[in-house]
Amino acid sequence: MNKEEFQKFVLQGIPDELPEPKKYNPEINHAPKRKEILTKEEKKLALKNALRYFDKKHHTVLAKEFAEELEKYGRIYMYRFRPDYKIYARSIDDYPAKCKHAAAIMLMLSNNLDYAVAQHPHELITYGGNGAVFQNWAQYLLTMQYLGEMTDEQTLVLYSGHPMGLFPSHKDAPRVVVTNGMMIPNYSKPDDWERFNALGVTQYGQMTAGSFMYIGPQGIVHGTTITVLNAGRKISKPGEGLEGKIFVTAGLGGMSGAQPKASNIAGVVSITAEINPKAAKKRHEQGWVDEITDDVDRAIDMALEYKKNKKTHSIAYLGNIVDLWERLVERDIKIDLGSDQTSLHNPLSGGYYPAGLTYEESNRMMAEKPDEFKNHVQESLKRQVDAINKLSANGMYFFDYGNAFLLESSRAGADILKDDGKFKYPSYVQDIMGPMCFDYGFGPFRWVCTSSKPEDLDTTDKIAMQVLEEIAATAPDEITQQMRDNIRWIQGAKENKLVVGSQARILYADAEGRMKIAGAFNQAIKEGTISAPVVLGRDHHDVSGTDSPFRETSNIYDGSQFTADMAIQNVIGDSFRGATWVSIHNGGGVGWGEVINGGFGMVLDGSKEASRRLKMMLHWDVNNGIARRSWARNDEAIFAIQREMERTPELKVTLPNIADDNLLDEIF
Ligand SMILES: NC(=O)c1ccc[n+]([C@@H]2O[C@H](COP(=O)([O-])OP(=O)(O)OC[C@H]3O[C@@H](n4cnc5c(N)ncnc54)[C@H](O)[C@@H]3O)[C@@H](O)[C@H]2O)c1
Repeated sequence: MNKEEFQKFVLQGIPDELPEPKKYNPEINHAPKRKEILTKEEKKLALKNALRYFDKKHHTVLAKEFAEELEKYGRIYMYRFRPDYKIYARSIDDYPAKCKHAAAIMLMLSNNLDYAVAQHPHELITYGGNGAVFQNWAQYLLTMQYLGEMTDEQTLVLYSGHPMGLFPSHKDAPRVVVTNGMMIPNYSKPDDWERFNALGVTQYGQMTAGSFMYIGPQGIVHGTTITVLNAGRKISKPGEGLEGKIFVTAGLGGMSGAQPKASNIAGVVSITAEINPKAAKKRHEQGWVDEITDDVDRAIDMALEYKKNKKTHSIAYLGNIVDLWERLVERDIKIDLGSDQTSLHNPLSGGYYPAGLTYEESNRMMAEKPDEFKNHVQESLKRQVDAINKLSANGMYFFDYGNAFLLESSRAGADILKDDGKFKYPSYVQDIMGPMCFDYGFGPFRWVCTSSKPEDLDTTDKIAMQVLEEIAATAPDEITQQMRDNIRWIQGAKENKLVVGSQARILYADAEGRMKIAGAFNQAIKEGTISAPVVLGRDHHDVSGTDSPFRETSNIYDGSQFTADMAIQNVIGDSFRGATWVSIHNGGGVGWGEVINGGFGMVLDGSKEASRRLKMMLHWDVNNGIARRSWARNDEAIFAIQREMERTPELKVTLPNIADDNLLDEIF
């Protein structure tokens, strides 16, 4: 399909004539059948809801077809309407649009549905098993059409993937406002997601899927590299590197697939278990994992060989993680670092495959006998924790990697709690990311070159490196390690071939770094050194974006880790300080009802307005979180916000007075 045909297709929205039904392609990685949850009346309601998108003349055909989809897959995806053109991040000029910012948003959402990027592209799922961009293909078609029509005096409103419409606004307003899974708090249990998603009225947007900010596994490669490096530093003697250390973990999916690549960059030997052959194959073909074996002893023997030679290597074990952990115990192997990145935020609907069942058996049982499946999951988690406890007693440093492993293991009744009721193991945010990164304002800043040209990405890499080196030259000791890690990362970024999908880059930077890098990009676009606009964004997993008591805010200890004011304030603040789009989500990472997270996208087009907006918005986007972390008495954040107040006289933040613990001990 050429560019003109593609544009015509986009602008027609939902076609007036029905396209041919689409054949189910078993070669593609599909979402598992969702749990049977709707009553007969609710099924009728789900159909009635789905038919709202179509002219009445098609209802007889579509009602039958959608009913079949609902029975067969547990959801109505409207497969027939999946477009025939290839969905990927084209050049910004290929999208039909009246305003460039809307074209940039089309590029970003297309990237989230690219086959090379998305986990279950036909079900519009980008990562995490249920991280949806849209609930169905009608929403996709309609949203693309609205973006094609919108002017820069309109705002598109998206309710969990459903485009409510274009509303008049103004130039400085966000072009799109996204909400995903916003529930009345009492209706935010996992089964509520199953029911209301099946009804077609809400979706799980994960963090970057439903906000069009997923940039492939690169984002998490960077985060994982930083995490593995710092986890390694925690167990290393001074001056000792990570060579010859073994890291064992699970999951080669959307995010977890980054683990072997990051382990190689960090310099360790890794074994990553993955139960789904398609997921493992995809990562192997991409070169993100060096070797695959379905023989557990061979995986272990290889790791020991590489350890002996102090050479980095990544091994995928095609099998269940529990079998790997138990075999390591049986053979009494010493493991240095351990974690898990199965999708335990979604343990009963395909996120976690219990030991003792094949992949296919699990997929059948979770849909047909959910109670029996739950028992298997809980037994499997107990076995997994028992093995991890034994290896930890032998010196392994184990950390929860933000997938609700500790939470779900405790719910399963596993031996994961200490006598005081706290978890035996830290979350990676408590020990590593929180105090070392977020409290200082460092977080996953990212950008996408909308020309989709690698040359532009090279230019941005050079600019970013120059800016970081300038800042590092005078940075205080507290943040020099962060600066050094990120300069090293950006130096090796091209060589490490991190791009999958759009021409994107990520690094960790604080407000100063983000503002200076963005300012330099905007200038380069104005001068033509960068050939097209650049989209700025970040993972929601950041300093201020996410309230999540077992992950991003797990190192907040004043009780406020169970509040969500920071994330809500953040997205409201971003929206009137110049974001091009904003999003706020329930769920993501650790599960529906367990987290509120938000983010933004900002288009830099070389204009004066962009320069004004970037300074105002990025400053708030980071310092909101530092202020909150400092109020929670976190020393690193108190240091960072005081430093920021010296730099910015208009900033006045309420600082905590620290009570003496002895005084309190005398009273209670
Ligand atoms: N740490 C972070 O920064 C971070 C970021 C994003 C996501 N997450 C969380 O990490 C988890 C993984 O995310 P994802 O996008 O990779 O999800 P995913 O569903 O794409 O991948 C998980 C993989 O684990 C495999 N798996 C499940 N059970 C298994 C078992 N018992 N043994 C071996 N393999 C098994 C699945 O087949 C799947 O491929 C999610 O819970 C997500 O929310 C963490």
